[in-house]
Amino acid sequence: MTRIDDTELVRTDYAKPERLATRFKPFREYHRGDLEGRVLQLVAEGSPRDVLEIGSGDGSFSDRMRSELSARVVSIDLSEHMVELARSRGLDARVGDAQNLPFPDESFDTVVANWMLYHVPDLDRALAEVRRVLRPGGRLVAVTMSSGSLREVWDMLPDDGSTPQLSFSRRNGASILARHFPHVLAIDLAGQAVFPDREAVVEYVGATLTRAHLADQVPHFDGPLVASTSNVAFVAERPQVSERAA
Ligand SMILES: C[S@@+](CC[C@H](N)C(=O)[O-])C[C@H]1O[C@@H](n2cnc3c(N)ncnc32)[C@H](O)[C@@H]1O
Repeated sequence: MTRIDDTELVRTDYAKPERLATRFKPFREYHRGDLEGRVLQLVAEGSPRDVLEIGSGDGSFSDRMRSELSARVVSIDLSEHMVELARSRGLDARVGDAQNLPFPDESFDTVVANWMLYHVPDLDRALAEVRRVLRPGGRLVAVTMSSGSLREVWDMLPDDGSTPQLSFSRRNGASILARHFPHVLAIDLAGQAVFPDREAVVEYVGATLTRAHLADQVPHFDGPLVASTSNVAFVAERPQVSERAA
């Protein structure tokens, strides 16, 4: 198992946004049903006015929140290149680290962290920061998956120990969040992705963070490949009473 919360690995990989776009095809283009639409629904349920997305990548989800919710949306990402792409969508996007959020206490009523907490070396520090910038009663919506995501793809390939170990996953996410938030809810977003053909699988494997070297070992097969996705959204709530007032 290989860790993916190494800052250098993260910086190098996310300097190439096209790799992220390919890695996300199973969750966007190939996914049965609108996976991010369900996440958007969870965000909307909090009726937020001020939303912060951390690890916002190229800003595609922030863009969607901005057009579908009547809320102010601010995005932050460690990668300058990703932030440039988000800004080119007209978003208020800033370069910054989730472990040291450049915002005053209690400035947002929702924080979104989609598929990013497993990249953060000091998770407790990042979650303490999220809690600090949330208003009392505010919510964190955090999406992640399991290490076994897209099992049918990986079952075709040798297990050489390069499977990523997710520090924040479907399995341990709730207990990690519970160290910072008294109320944590897990919403199962498991589903299926349909890769149209072998080339799409090769392209996907070649864009992964730790298993790109396996791309040319994808065996030949005809037709599409249906693979299981194992995403989950956690909704964690900051208590209604302000710690400042307590
Ligand atoms: C898998 S991508 C997800 C992007 C976006 N949330 C989405 O769903 O399209 C993870 C993103 O988190 C960013 N990231 C990683 N560690 C971070 C940190 N400590 N602070 C802020 N952003 C970080 C990366 O640069 C990358 O853009």
